[in-house]
Amino acid sequence: MKFGIICVSDRCYKGECDDLSGKAIAECVKSLSDGEVYRLVPDENDLISNAITELSDDEKCDVIFTTGGTGFAPRDITPEATKAVIEKEVPGISEAIRAKSLEITDRAMLSRAISGIRGKSLIINLPGSPKAVKESIDIVLPVLPHAIETLSGNTQSCGGNY
Ligand code: MTE
Repeated sequence: MKFGIICVSDRCYKGECDDLSGKAIAECVKSLSDGEVYRLVPDENDLISNAITELSDDEKCDVIFTTGGTGFAPRDITPEATKAVIEKEVPGISEAIRAKSLEITDRAMLSRAISGIRGKSLIINLPGSPKAVKESIDIVLPVLPHAIETLSGNTQSCGGNY
């Protein structure tokens, strides 16, 4: 599986801090990964959308994780930038992340993250902290192989034997 990792952060983009969350994503997906493509962008709608389309259309990533910009801060715009370039929404993934994360912290309800499909790529917004990234990826990792197999057209949708 090829992974795209997009860190969305004004501060990391300006070099004011290290992107520990992007590194946490790479670490978490290691067991499933045939390679990762990384981008670092500021909290700018067009730059986030462009990074997603590039990793989907050109780099052909199977799964693209964004980290950051899902909250309430004035410049948090990742869900909107994602929505602009996905073709189908996958609410269940973000619902599952929020529901299970709520067992860890009430603040999980403050993430507006969404998930969706563009072409053969699955795009999943994650919150910005390394802790939240790890907790969220642990929730979705087990379903990724089946999700990507279905998306690539290699299997029927779950109608019969599973
Ligand atoms: N989800 C998990 N699993 N663990 C967390 O610590 N933090 C929350 C939430 N989701 C958190 C979480 C907090 S404090 C915020 S403000 C929102 O994610 C949005 O984070 P973001 O603005 O960095 O994307």
